[in-house]
Amino acid sequence: MEEKLLYAGKAKQMWTTQDEDQLRVVYLDQATQLNGKQKEHFAGKGEAAHAISDLIFHYLIDHGVETHLIKKLSEKEDLVEKCAMIPLEFVTRNTVAGHFASRFGLEEGTPLSQPVEENFYKNDELDDPFINESAAVALKMATEEELTRCWAICRQVNQLLTPLFKKAGMQLIDFKLEFGRRSRDQRVILADEFSPDNCRLWDQKTHHHMDKDVFRRNLADLTTTYQEVYSRLQSALEED
Ligand code: ADP
Ligand code: TMP
Repeated sequence: MEEKLLYAGKAKQMWTTQDEDQLRVVYLDQATQLNGKQKEHFAGKGEAAHAISDLIFHYLIDHGVETHLIKKLSEKEDLVEKCAMIPLEFVTRNTVAGHFASRFGLEEGTPLSQPVEENFYKNDELDDPFINESAAVALKMATEEELTRCWAICRQVNQLLTPLFKKAGMQLIDFKLEFGRRSRDQRVILADEFSPDNCRLWDQKTHHHMDKDVFRRNLADLTTTYQEVYSRLQSALEED
C-alpha cells in the first residue's frame, strides 16, 4: 500500500503508513506566524523541535501520561497512533504573556495566582478564536467528559514539566496541547507535540525568550535557541 501525505501542516507533515491506525510525522524546517500567513525556512529547526518533543513525550509517558508517540523513526520523524483530533487548543498559562497580556492590558511576566486554562477553536481561517466549554460541547467538538479528561491531563503535564524546566534553568510561562481520539479504540490521548513552537520558555535568570517568540519578535536565531533548550533539558534529566 502506497504511503500518502494525509495532511501538510505549518510545522509538520502527517503520512499514512502500512498500518491504518498509525501515522508517520515529519517535522519541517520551517516556522510560521499569523496562522500561516508568514512562513520562513530555518535549517535544523525540524530536528531540534522533534528532539525536544520526543524527550518531553518520553518524560510524560514515563510518568503515566498516555500519548500518541510509538517510536522515533529518524532525526525528523516519529511513528504515532493515528487520532481523530479534537479541534481545540488547550492553553495553560502560569504567567502573563502573549495574547493574555494584550487582551487584558497586563505586563508580560506578571505571575498568575493560579494557572489560567483557555480553549481555542483550531481554525486558521478564523484565526483560532477563543471558545468556552459550553460552545465546544454544543458544537459537538468534544463531550464534557472528554474536556474534563483533557484538562486533567493538562494539569498533570503542568505539574510534571514546570519543575523539569526549572531544573533546566527555564520558566514554563504557558503551553498549548492538543488531544485526539485514538483511531484503534477512540480513547482520548495527548497528541501533536510539545516543543518551543507551542510553549513559552524564559531563561530563569535573564528572562530571555527561549521559544518561538524569538522568531515572532526577531530576537535570536530559532534553531540555535531550540538546540539550547534541548541540551539544557538533557543535562537536567541526566542529573536525575
Ligand atoms: P497545523 O495544523 O496547526 O499547521 P502542524 O503543522 O503541527 O499544525 O500539523 C500537524 C497536524 O496534525 C495538526 O493539525 C494536528 O492537530 C494533527 N495531529 C497531531 N497529532 C496527530 C495524530 N496523532 N493523529 C492525527 N492528527 C494529528
Ligand atoms: P497566545 O499568548 O498567543 O495565546 O499563546 C499561548 C500559548 O499557546 C503559547 O505558548 C503559544 C501557544 N500557541 C500555539 O501553540 N498555537 C497557536 O496557534 C497559538 C495562538 C498559541
